[in-house]
Amino acid sequence: MKQKESINPNLKALGESATLAMSERVRAMTKQGLEIFNLGIGESPFPVPNFIVESLKTHAQERSYLPVKGLPELRNAVSAYHKRQDGIDFKPDNILIGPGTKILMYLLQLSHDSELVVPSPCWVSYVPQANLLGKKVQLIQTSFEDKWHLSADKLAEACETDPSKPRLLVLNYPGNPDGGTYSEEELKAIAEVARKYEMVLLSDEIYGEMHHKGQHVSISKFYPEGTIISSGLSKWAAAGGWRLGTFAFPEELGWLLGPMTKAAGQTYSSVASPIQWAGVTAFNGGTELDNYLIHTRRILKKLSANCANMLRESGARIHQSEGAFYLFPDFTPFAENLAKRGIRSGKELGEAILNETHVATIPGVSFFRPAEELTLRMSYTNFDGTKAMKASEAIPIDQALPDSFLEEYCGKTLEATRKICDFVTKT
Ligand SMILES: Cc1ncc(COP(=O)(O)O)c(C=O)c1O
Repeated sequence: MKQKESINPNLKALGESATLAMSERVRAMTKQGLEIFNLGIGESPFPVPNFIVESLKTHAQERSYLPVKGLPELRNAVSAYHKRQDGIDFKPDNILIGPGTKILMYLLQLSHDSELVVPSPCWVSYVPQANLLGKKVQLIQTSFEDKWHLSADKLAEACETDPSKPRLLVLNYPGNPDGGTYSEEELKAIAEVARKYEMVLLSDEIYGEMHHKGQHVSISKFYPEGTIISSGLSKWAAAGGWRLGTFAFPEELGWLLGPMTKAAGQTYSSVASPIQWAGVTAFNGGTELDNYLIHTRRILKKLSANCANMLRESGARIHQSEGAFYLFPDFTPFAENLAKRGIRSGKELGEAILNETHVATIPGVSFFRPAEELTLRMSYTNFDGTKAMKASEAIPIDQALPDSFLEEYCGKTLEATRKICDFVTKT
């Protein structure tokens, strides 16, 4: 007997995840024996810090379901972490632990009856999650000239059309796909508008610890009553596959935490116990983590500056990366040359670069940029992080890494960048 085919209409327009699809392409091309330069994946190249791995091993026998909100010891550790890092008090009871922040974001969008407001470019999943839930989305376009930043004026303009509408604003910095961050003045101005329009603000600070100068500032400082801070182990602890994400709520947003916790209880129940125990160790931090972060930042900062300079010198429009591990070059200056070669969109550009030079990137359209814009996201992470970390540890921290360090330990990322420059400049 044949079943009645019936799919939720919200899923019909849903595309596959661009980043995961690119990983599949890279896997398939590698299987064919090709050497691929993978600048497509948003994953830390470094190992999980050893003391966190040891903690996971120690707790492998922890086998019971845990409270939906999370292990009390972990909620204490996350609360203490935000006090230490951001100078903000969150009650342990106002911390929610999830299997990654992605699902917490989905449950937030499910629980908050609101319109999603998000600047473009933005991370790949905020908008599809809203689409899945049948929510309205207001994308605020930014530009290269704005450094891809949301301005308080543009935000206010977007709210003016219907000032009383409930809105969920998502801000992500250091940002994926551009690697940029916001100044305190910018954050204060955005916070003021968010307060005026009584918005709920989700501050996606998953890359906060990967600010290349270690100077990340949370917008929660300027809008404490309306901001949820999102963090987790995926990026700064390089443990994306462990699936541990955290949301910190101010007391004033308790009305949202309650329904989200119920939704969590009816969906994922709780995060794996050993992972939460290892999370306690990670969020408690200490000198080993501090040193690890000092080296990751030093390597990423130097590498991103070199790649950005190469791209700029070749004629691309590019901002320096200030955090995370992304660059977001705009190849519009080459539009005429590329059009002669049949390339008229970011997607076509990414495809041609992959096919001809075997360098994988992700086109700007996947981050909600206009299709014809010639932007690409490059993750400058195609190197062996374990080797690079060891080599960096041997160089005193008050000394700059020499250029030869990058050639020796991050050569593939440099070569991939050179290949992109050669591709766009050739006539
Ligand atoms: C900006 C941003 N936010 C959130 C996430 C989701 O991270 P996770 O679900 O692993 O916590 C990612 C992952 O790539 C990201 O880049």
